[in-house]
Amino acid sequence: MEEITLLNPLDMHLHLREGEMLKNIIDFTTSQFSGAVVMPNLSTPITTTQLAMEYKEEIQSSAKDKDFMPLIAIYITDALNEEELKTAKNNGIKILKLYPKGATTNSDNGLAEILTPQTLKIFEIAQDLGFMLSIHGETGGFSMEREYEFGPIFAAIAKDFPKLKIIIEHMSDHRSIALLEDYENIYATLTLHHITMTLDDVLGAGLKPHHFCKPILKTPKDRDMLLALALNAHPKVSFGSDSAPHLEKNKLKDNGAAGIFSAPNMLAMLCELFEKHDKLHNLQAFISDNAKTNYNISKLPKKAVKLHKKHTAIPSQIRLIQNNIIPLNGGRLLQWSQA
Ligand code: DOR
Ligand code: ZN
Repeated sequence: MEEITLLNPLDMHLHLREGEMLKNIIDFTTSQFSGAVVMPNLSTPITTTQLAMEYKEEIQSSAKDKDFMPLIAIYITDALNEEELKTAKNNGIKILKLYPKGATTNSDNGLAEILTPQTLKIFEIAQDLGFMLSIHGETGGFSMEREYEFGPIFAAIAKDFPKLKIIIEHMSDHRSIALLEDYENIYATLTLHHITMTLDDVLGAGLKPHHFCKPILKTPKDRDMLLALALNAHPKVSFGSDSAPHLEKNKLKDNGAAGIFSAPNMLAMLCELFEKHDKLHNLQAFISDNAKTNYNISKLPKKAVKLHKKHTAIPSQIRLIQNNIIPLNGGRLLQWSQA
């Protein structure tokens, strides 16, 4: 195929940051996607409807495409209560994000323990109000086992709250796939990096801090089994880039930041991947249709993004005033580009 048109691409897991960073990166996404689930782990986390509304304003005023639809998730802290959840619901917020305390970037306000009476009460209210629960599912154990060890927590929540839709964000371990099959209310997002790379891309040939992310990239078996889910557009799986920009200096220092900035040329990279495996016909479902169904998204601006076979290069760096951001595959020549 020489050309493909994707209708309303959606990125169901995205970090846009704020201020100068936001202004410099937002249009890499809005030029390709109709909407995105925007993660709330800012330096001041988005824990209330008020903060979510202000953040939505900031995103929309920074974006060129004024039709872009940010779905802001609310960060679950110990302070979240029923009243706040009702306010969020009344203001169109659909997603709650759970970070285990300390699991990743800006997660210090996350939950030290997940299955406490207080949190279970929040899950119950969330279920009654029709929220979706998005989870960064990792324990504090050995890096390669963290997602697997979190499995019983996913299972316990799914079992006790069967009407609560739960999303395993950035699924990275093939052993998590069973949860999709075992629990009707468990869904997942997949990133490009977890379906195309392994731990060897982080440390197999010299240390590559720009490939360091959480959850950490895993084994060839994990990559291949997750890639199959994406290529076959498994109906419970949606694309979520987890594009997470950090300044180069913060990636390179000791205790370097976790996160891969994958937003530039994302659709062209996905076209290349799906075409290579003869699955281009499934890209529409993976990039939009599954998400529309599973997240009940009805109002979309109707964006048609045309891509064709034409070489294009991924930018090797994005210059901000003080420092750069290095994109995934920066400098690489792609066979596809946006028309
Ligand atoms: O690698 C990651 N970076 N994983 C996350 O969960 C958060 C993200 C970020 O915000 O930088
Ligand atoms: Zn993330």
